[in-house]
Amino acid sequence: MSLLLVSKNRNLKPYKEALLELDPNLDIEIWPGISKPEKVQFAVAWRHPANLFEKFPNLKVISSLGAGVDHLLKDDTIPESIRFTRIVAPSLSGQMADYVLTAVLNIIRKTDHYIDQQRKAVWKPLESLKKSDITVGVMGLGEIGSEVAEMLKKNGFSVCGWARSRKSIDGVNCYTKGELGAFLNQTNIVICLLPLTPETNGILDLDLFKGLKKPAYLINVARGEHLVQEDLIYALDTDLIHHATLDVFSQEPLPESHPFWGREKITITPHIASVTDPKESAELILENYKRMLSGMELLHKVDREAGY
Ligand code: GLV
Repeated sequence: MSLLLVSKNRNLKPYKEALLELDPNLDIEIWPGISKPEKVQFAVAWRHPANLFEKFPNLKVISSLGAGVDHLLKDDTIPESIRFTRIVAPSLSGQMADYVLTAVLNIIRKTDHYIDQQRKAVWKPLESLKKSDITVGVMGLGEIGSEVAEMLKKNGFSVCGWARSRKSIDGVNCYTKGELGAFLNQTNIVICLLPLTPETNGILDLDLFKGLKKPAYLINVARGEHLVQEDLIYALDTDLIHHATLDVFSQEPLPESHPFWGREKITITPHIASVTDPKESAELILENYKRMLSGMELLHKVDREAGY
């Protein structure tokens, strides 16, 4: 029996080492150097190559190496019988909460403008936005989204949330599917933390931007495909959106020639808002691997129908 680690863009050695530290008897293979595909029953994947999983006749479970599972769900060569799990870890929510708080504070304290002014040796105080005048709206209230909403609330922001099903978070105005308009009407800074599904693909479009309370800002930390790129450019050029903070892109790395790079009103980070930690994820992976071997219920299973 073996465990397979596969990724086209992540160094998996620290994950292998962390797993072996927990259990030195594990048999672990790292793609592409796979010697016995028939022994693989459990795989851990992040951005895997196409058609890879057809080569493992005894594969039963694939765990995403992150919180998102869109990379697995969009691969229709993976048989229905294979179960998907994902990483749900305190540090993922904590890192995301830190990133979002930084982005929100940068917006209200105009940090980007001051960085720009410093480069030009310009001394010019600008008016900050008041916390009390701003409402932050979180789209997606799963483990990560709820923690982000709670943390913003604790930091003195007025917070509302929107999710597919009805959620209840202390002090946060929660809206559900049919209430998107009401949610947007109250929201100045919209934060996308939704799972990527056919329903949410392209949800950050011109209509959504038009619905936001002004002044309006966007923070996308979910997936690049949530955003309609031309609509954002239009919205920035027409001041429907004042500023966008983007950590995710439909093409990563973002190509050098992409129009987002040169824009003053866009802050770009290279998909680093929240990244799994090898030690923490090794514990979760091992727990599910052992559960699979003994036929127990898996933790953090993905509903393939719902898409998360
Ligand atoms: C990061 O993007 C993740 O899905 O964990």
